[in-house]
Amino acid sequence: MGPPGAGKGTQGELLSERLRVPRLSTGDMLREARREGTALGRRVEGYMEAGELVPDALILDLIDERLEAAGTLDGFVMDGFPRTVAQAKGLVELLEDRGESLDAVVNLRVPEEELVRRLGARRVCAECGEITGPEAGRDCPECGGRLRERSDDRPETVRRRLQVYEKETRPVLRWYREGDVRVVDVDGTGTVEEVRRRLRDRLGR
Ligand code: AP5
Repeated sequence: MGPPGAGKGTQGELLSERLRVPRLSTGDMLREARREGTALGRRVEGYMEAGELVPDALILDLIDERLEAAGTLDGFVMDGFPRTVAQAKGLVELLEDRGESLDAVVNLRVPEEELVRRLGARRVCAECGEITGPEAGRDCPECGGRLRERSDDRPETVRRRLQVYEKETRPVLRWYREGDVRVVDVDGTGTVEEVRRRLRDRLGR
């Protein structure tokens, strides 16, 4: 967990590679649905462009479907989910139905001015989804595809996403802290490698 630009996608990907388990990113799933022009993609477009959250029921259906498909016996890393207390409660039910539970909730902490700077600089590959910054130039370092800004990284949409995070998602962390899931706070500033090491040390694996 963490606000927009905290590094959830970047660190989530590294963690899933290290643990050899799938990363389930609701943001990536929704962007894929939009790219493919599915009914779900058309339904969520307006919310995402405005920086608002997609309704809980749609997200919980999506996670239910992906948990089924991903074969979660060896675990998973979730990125960008849950984002409301209703989603967090829904996740408990989905996991209980499968006889599973969360090991830890990671909270990446980054000051707001750094979040705004990172999102303004973010570039995403239109072909493979690789996330990078402007130093990469015009072409993706992974596959050579064209790098673009993400459409919800416009300054006014970033402001709204940060407000939505404070109102809807910060309470989820409070909810976890009051419960019995281990919440691991990690300083998300510094280089990607520094954060990766800090996260590994704090998680103990
Ligand atoms: P989503 O895609 O989840 O976006 P987000 O939470 O706003 O987070 P970001 O992807 O912007 O940032 P991140 O924390 O992953 O950072 P990243 O690693 O990319 O959601 C998008 C939209 O989908 C939502 O607004 C909503 O509409 C909808 N949605 C998704 N999930 C939902 C849900 N559960 N419920 C309802 N609606 C949902 O890094 C950012 C940049 O910083 C990159 O350029 C990266 O290269 C760079 N960077 C990363 N780490 C560092 C570092 N240590 N130093 C310098 N730069 C760094």
